[in-house]
Amino acid sequence: MIEIDISRARSFVKERAYNDSYEKAKQAFEQVKQRNGAGSEWLGWRTLLSDPNDAILEQLDSLATAIREDADVFIVCGIGGSYLGARAVIDALSPFFGTDGPEILYAGNQMSGQYLDELIGYLEEPNAEGESKSVYLNVISKSGTTLETALSFRILRNWMEDRFDDISERIVCTTSEEGGALNELIKKHGFPKFIIPDDVGGRFSVLTPVGLLPIAVAGIDIRSLFYEAVSKFEALEEDPEPVLEYAAVKHALYEQGKAIDLFTTFEPQLNALSGWLQQLLGESEGKENQGMFPAKATYSTDLHSLGQFVQEGPRNMMETFIQVDSMNEQVEVQAEDEDHDGLNYLEGRSFHDINSRALEGTLQAHHEGGVPCVVLTLDKLNAQHIGEFIYLYELLTAVYCYCLDVNPFNQPGVEFYKKEMYQLLGKQ
Ligand code: PA5
Repeated sequence: MIEIDISRARSFVKERAYNDSYEKAKQAFEQVKQRNGAGSEWLGWRTLLSDPNDAILEQLDSLATAIREDADVFIVCGIGGSYLGARAVIDALSPFFGTDGPEILYAGNQMSGQYLDELIGYLEEPNAEGESKSVYLNVISKSGTTLETALSFRILRNWMEDRFDDISERIVCTTSEEGGALNELIKKHGFPKFIIPDDVGGRFSVLTPVGLLPIAVAGIDIRSLFYEAVSKFEALEEDPEPVLEYAAVKHALYEQGKAIDLFTTFEPQLNALSGWLQQLLGESEGKENQGMFPAKATYSTDLHSLGQFVQEGPRNMMETFIQVDSMNEQVEVQAEDEDHDGLNYLEGRSFHDINSRALEGTLQAHHEGGVPCVVLTLDKLNAQHIGEFIYLYELLTAVYCYCLDVNPFNQPGVEFYKKEMYQLLGKQ
């Protein structure tokens, strides 16, 4: 169960402005539902949930089980919407250190030669048993032509070809049904393939094989994740009020001149989830000179770098706190006979309790400092709640973008850097 508390944001908005935005949000939700808004041919992320395909979950599960049994390392090769969702869920639900399955590594999301060189060096080191590492790779690219991903894949594929004689079982491709260079390679090598539905854009694709295969290989229960998203979909179709209110307050704050929405969490394993949100909102709303810049911070670490700015910098920001109610309570402060470090006053209190008080204090301070704050509370960190969270934000993004009157599902601006880069690289 996720609670959304907008009270500390709504207090910054005049009743009339809120009501106007709320009316917009209501119409926007109808546009999503009736499929008559801009980009409505990209609403497949809803169809996935209204009409679940359990056979695909089954296939993903069984392939992931086989990979988990044999792999030391599983490489997720993709960029943007083709990896951020998987990484968000895997980081949120995996231990900080070690794993009971393959180590999940990432490639194809930048073009650092140093990274690739070190990655291959690491893959060539023996595993804990002193044997050659067993490496599997999932290349994920809807277009099949994204340079960062395609380049890294070429290098890693060649390395795997030299190393293993069964690469057609070690490399799995996730791409569009047809077209793109990846489909040519699939034809040539016979790599197993999962399809990214045409009507689902990259940043809305975490609940397709794009996200679900790596998540399953990480040992996370994809059925719980997926079907909780289905339940959230059904609940919000029935009663969209929480999303309408959230979209309304966010839109009213935008109209009031707020230029930044800072997503913050006190749980470091949610850092990548904020990264997923950053892309989901950033690529969806930042167009036609509109939108709030989605920034992210991990507290309390970043309170010691960005906290000053948030507290006393320009009042052009709202903040969205993502908190988790119940976390590890095992680590407690013990009293010492001589209280040299002066910490005995915390005796018997868990780190989670102390961290939660830090969150409460920060929320209060930022709110009093003039920052409108929305608070999202997950009662636990598990696959169900993350599934719920994913659909909640997908719908919020669509509704809020329609309030801004922008198409949430395209990203024309991303093409500009590619055009310049390809010209400099001499691509015909
Ligand atoms: O959200 C998006 O559409 C983008 O972030 C894409 O996912 C990203 O550019 C990668 O594209 P592709 O999957 O075609 O390699």
